[in-house]
Amino acid sequence: MSELKTHPISKIEGEYIPPGDKSISHRLAMLGAIAEGKSHFTNFLSSDDCLRTIQAFQAMGVSFEPSETELAVHGAGLHGLSKPKQELDLGNSGTTMRLLLGILAGQSFESRLTGDTSLRKRPMRRVTEPLRKMGALIEGRDNGSYAPLTIRGGSLSGIGWQNEMASAQVKSAILLAGLYAQGETWVEEQIASRDHTERLLTIFGAPFQKSGSRSLIRKTDRLQSIQFRIPGDISSAAFLIVAALLLPDSDLIVKQVGLNPTRIGLIQILKSMGANINFEMTEDKGEPMGNIRVRSSRLEGRAVDQNLIPSLIDELPILMIAFALAEGTSVVRGAEELRVKETDRIHSMTVGLKAIGAKIHEGRDGCVIEGVKGFEGGSVSSFGDHRTAMSFLIAGLRSKKGVVVQDTACIQTSYPNFEADLKRVIR
Ligand code: S3P
Repeated sequence: MSELKTHPISKIEGEYIPPGDKSISHRLAMLGAIAEGKSHFTNFLSSDDCLRTIQAFQAMGVSFEPSETELAVHGAGLHGLSKPKQELDLGNSGTTMRLLLGILAGQSFESRLTGDTSLRKRPMRRVTEPLRKMGALIEGRDNGSYAPLTIRGGSLSGIGWQNEMASAQVKSAILLAGLYAQGETWVEEQIASRDHTERLLTIFGAPFQKSGSRSLIRKTDRLQSIQFRIPGDISSAAFLIVAALLLPDSDLIVKQVGLNPTRIGLIQILKSMGANINFEMTEDKGEPMGNIRVRSSRLEGRAVDQNLIPSLIDELPILMIAFALAEGTSVVRGAEELRVKETDRIHSMTVGLKAIGAKIHEGRDGCVIEGVKGFEGGSVSSFGDHRTAMSFLIAGLRSKKGVVVQDTACIQTSYPNFEADLKRVIR
């Protein structure tokens, strides 16, 4: 099993361009596949997860021209997908499975979706329930709660749905199915989850409307092809941003990173902790993007405002590393969703943080962390989770003895160049 070790270093310095945004890359590959004509995307993230999305559509007859950081797709049209010959194996990718279910709900053929051990344990009922209400026929373990799932769609009616758990994947699956459903389909949410699907639906020419907290889509016959440059992934940049804050005399400039307001909760909370972070927006062609400058800072502990959780859900593991080295007490509450990510991240982070000398108390829906001056170091497991793995590799940079992370192949899920990018800014 692969393992990596990070050692104490003196500082982080330089300019850094993070890899393309994972959420946006998935959505572009999917929407490009059901649009008409050739779409082209630059700064596409060719990570394991996004490749699963491409492979699923290839299995349904869509032709792609992939390269390391670009993707061209020859759209098959909304009704041009063909029945896959085999079960679609979506690996570790929850985003692929949940969003794809939305598109498959609009297809009259039957398909079967599965994934790795982690994905087969992740809750799917949140998506299968609204899609069934729209008219899709779905079967799966525990009445459609877990993959493998079989889905046959084709004759859908619009629904209105309250997105209680502020899940962008649930919202997206319903809106994608809405492209095929008679009448109107809408999703309402109290706390805004990431809105990439809505932004991209508009750019692809779908009849999408936003009014207040309601996202509404109408049935359509065609999506147009587009050209799109994908901003850097703030969730991937988060690791180097926290590293720069924690190491004395560091100065890091993160360039061309996505600054979508539904994704920048981490920046907001870090700033409230005293982080020296400035950002400027440089471009907005549907997805805002800009540069962030981060300098080492003395951080104070905080309680995370629960309204902020959807906008930093994927950053909570690395935020816990920052909390563990901040002065005073920090509290995470209302983050039970972390228990059903690629692994139970409340548990994986608690076990690892204790093993390297942090003070953390695990709660049902979060944790309480007492800041320490530095980590002792030691050996931790990633629990097969990419964000847990990268968080502890950053922790090793501020430890006495270094941190060994076991089972690091999972980093390929979202950030294949993590090690190389980190090495480039280590001084
Ligand atoms: C994602 C939404 C979030 C996030 C995941 C990616 C997306 O999940 O944690 O990594 O691309 O829509 P939920 O929608 O389940 O909160």
